[in-house]
Amino acid sequence: MKGVVLAGGLATRLRPLTWVTNKHLLPVYNKPMIYYPLEMMRQAGMKEALLITSGDHVGDFANLLKSGDEFDMRLYYAIQHNPTGGIADAMKLAEEFSHHEPLLVILGDNIFKFDLKKSVERFTAQLEKETRGAMVFGVRRDTEARQYGVIEMDGEGKVLSIEEKPEKPKSDIAQTGVYLYDHRVFDFVRTLTPSARGQLEVTDLNNMYLKEKSLMCEVIDWWVDAGTSHDELLAANMQVAERVKQGLL
Ligand code: DAU
Repeated sequence: MKGVVLAGGLATRLRPLTWVTNKHLLPVYNKPMIYYPLEMMRQAGMKEALLITSGDHVGDFANLLKSGDEFDMRLYYAIQHNPTGGIADAMKLAEEFSHHEPLLVILGDNIFKFDLKKSVERFTAQLEKETRGAMVFGVRRDTEARQYGVIEMDGEGKVLSIEEKPEKPKSDIAQTGVYLYDHRVFDFVRTLTPSARGQLEVTDLNNMYLKEKSLMCEVIDWWVDAGTSHDELLAANMQVAERVKQGLL
């Protein structure tokens, strides 16, 4: 399995903090934001990961992270020319890198803690049995689910529906930015068309797996999307500080 970390986008919602830097380089307590998803890549057992970002900031990431030794992995870099083309648009750049292996994708502004390695092992075992599939990770959000993708699932973890930022959420489970895909993911990505907001949406991609009934979901306990607003960034800083002091992160 190969890892992909997305660190593109323009982060207009975090201006003026992001006028001259990339949001994933902003501090979250005692580390740059990008460290958290990379640490989870390591925990999940990835030996190689591709970091995708815009041309403006790729040099800053390379200066900071170098070849990835600090995370016990080999890091590679790719440039997304349209920084707002969408998550699935950025993923296209990982096709050659993936070498037909399954993929673990983590959004660079997502901070979370759970045993991702176990989930990767479960997913790999499922792929050996059924040869195809994808997995998303959800978190319960009673009021703000509508600002994310919203997942409806059955008692066995099978996904019944996913809607991107729905007016009327069908459940309280928000889709996090952690995804596992089989090697066919690029065949699906190639067929996507831009959404109303002009992006190739990860939710549209996930819906393709849903259509063939091969999309599973695991619900995790703690997750924060540090990149959506100044308040979320502040909340991420406070929650991370607290967790580090309690030895939970
Ligand atoms: O964080 C979870 C949410 O992420 C999910 O609930 C949604 O279903 C999913 O669509 C996504 O929603 P956002 O609107 O929050 O995505 P955002 O534009 O903030 O981008 C998420 C990450 O992906 C961020 O780290 C930047 C990166 N990105 C984004 C775009 C649009 C790229 O690398 N390239 C891009 O073109």
